[in-house]
Amino acid sequence: MNALPTAVDPTSPAFAERAQTMEQLTTRLRADLDAAANDRSAKALARHREQGKLTAAERLTLLLDPGTPFLEIGALAALGLYEGGVHKAGTLAGIGVVNGRECMISANDATVKGGTIYPMGVKKALRLQQVAMENRLPFLSLVDSGGAFLPLQSEVFPDADDGGRIFYNQAWMSKMGIPQITAVMGLCTAGAAYIPAMSDEVVHVRGTGAIFLAGPPLVKAATGEEVSAEDLGGADMHCAVSGVSDYLAESDADAIRIVRSLVANLPAAPAGWIDQVAPCPPRYDPAELGGIVPTDLTVPFDIREVIARVVDGSEFQEFKALFGPTLVCGFARIHGYLVGILGNNGVLFSECAQKATQFVQLCEKRRVPLIFLQNVPGFMVGSEAERAGITKHGHQMVNVVATTTVPKLTVIVGGSFGAGNYAMCGRAYGPRFLWMWPNAKIGVMGAAQAAAVLVSVANGQRERAGAPPMSDDEEAFLRGPVMENQDREGNAWHSTAQLWDDGIVEPARTRDVLGLCLAVCSRAPDPGYHNTFGTFRM
Ligand code: COA
Repeated sequence: MNALPTAVDPTSPAFAERAQTMEQLTTRLRADLDAAANDRSAKALARHREQGKLTAAERLTLLLDPGTPFLEIGALAALGLYEGGVHKAGTLAGIGVVNGRECMISANDATVKGGTIYPMGVKKALRLQQVAMENRLPFLSLVDSGGAFLPLQSEVFPDADDGGRIFYNQAWMSKMGIPQITAVMGLCTAGAAYIPAMSDEVVHVRGTGAIFLAGPPLVKAATGEEVSAEDLGGADMHCAVSGVSDYLAESDADAIRIVRSLVANLPAAPAGWIDQVAPCPPRYDPAELGGIVPTDLTVPFDIREVIARVVDGSEFQEFKALFGPTLVCGFARIHGYLVGILGNNGVLFSECAQKATQFVQLCEKRRVPLIFLQNVPGFMVGSEAERAGITKHGHQMVNVVATTTVPKLTVIVGGSFGAGNYAMCGRAYGPRFLWMWPNAKIGVMGAAQAAAVLVSVANGQRERAGAPPMSDDEEAFLRGPVMENQDREGNAWHSTAQLWDDGIVEPARTRDVLGLCLAVCSRAPDPGYHNTFGTFRM
């Protein structure tokens, strides 16, 4: 494979301006991540400590093999929601290495509203389970939770994707043979009692851990019985009498030690199946990525400049380079793993969709994972595009991307708009992981386009009513809130708070994050090639 050339000039004023804007965004990102990790009330921390408990972060540090990477998921989930302060949606979670084994780890943070589960906490729990199921990762839960956040109980309890689905998934994970180990390190009340109950093995900390369907106050109210939390559902009772728990731990640290040794007893993970050779760094510095992306997303940039700073040796075997050039497809390696990359260089035309369909079929047959680098304004519109059959060609791409069985990883590096989001493997298309750059934007269309559509609809209504079109002032009055709303809800921070993605990554870290994801995907069994695509409309 040949190394990509570069036209980027790191000494140019345009580069400096772009790099400065990205630097501002990454500074904001680091500040938000720091606050989400560390901004806790002194009262909650003191209460936690006086019970002799370690924090979620301390538990995680003890659990992980020293010096190994931790791929956090949903680090900024619920940012700014519920009047603020529900950091990480109440759960510190991600993929880490425990006794040499990659595991999904979920640790309730009891210093955030008693570790209670908000609606976004349910969404995060379901996402973690989905990642564990798709990648066959052992699931380790460090439970310390007051259960449902009761003021919002109607949003966490009754519906199909509410709290009950967590335990439903646990049953399915068990059936799938995904190991589930839970350490009871605080309260597991009501619904939360089912997290240990549905697990394979339960470690229970004496003195602080308790499992019960109703806590002492509710028991008193319901039956009049007065009983302490320890007697009702403590470690001694559950390890010696009920048999709900399997291993008694004397402290948080002891529980973590036991969990680590239980992981060591698990059957070995399968050997990786994705084609891998010795990795080598890109020829061009990934730190330059910030200087490549324009501040204004309507200004195009060459996605090859991004690829050149993500892939090994900056080497890229481009597929059909001259056909449908606004979609770049080709083969490369990331941390040694062979991947097929699809990256946008503008609007999607019929030829792009046809090219993508052929390329994805190749990768499907050869069992090559797909990387989608999204900077897509959407599909081409207009009579010429319609006559060329853009809708049916778009369908081919959407169809093949939806149903390919190789692992898909998506990074939104710029805009993600309209059906372009779907065709380039947006969240609904089942990428194993989806990450956003800090500058990324997402929406059914851009803010200006959405406002223009609404102005045109309103003018159409006026015309039918025999009224004149809107004045400039009236148009501005209509456009303003639409644009504002799109800007507020269409940026990476809103997306990540809503868990539309797995996190915001700094551009320079993209290569390493993708490498970790590929390592995880590689050890999940390959579903294999079955030649079972749907019918392509020709
Ligand atoms: N819903 C909403 N808020 C809750 C809550 C719940 N289920 N459980 C606790 N909280 C809030 C408290 O109001 C408090 O909020 P504040 O910091 O704004 O004052 C915060 O979480 C911490 O609770 P606190 O009782 O002060 O801390 P603690 O460490 O002594 O105890 C719990 C934490 C979770 C063990 C305890 O609050 C408890 O038993 N909660 C009820 C559990 C329950 O019965 N849940 C049923 C859910 S189905």
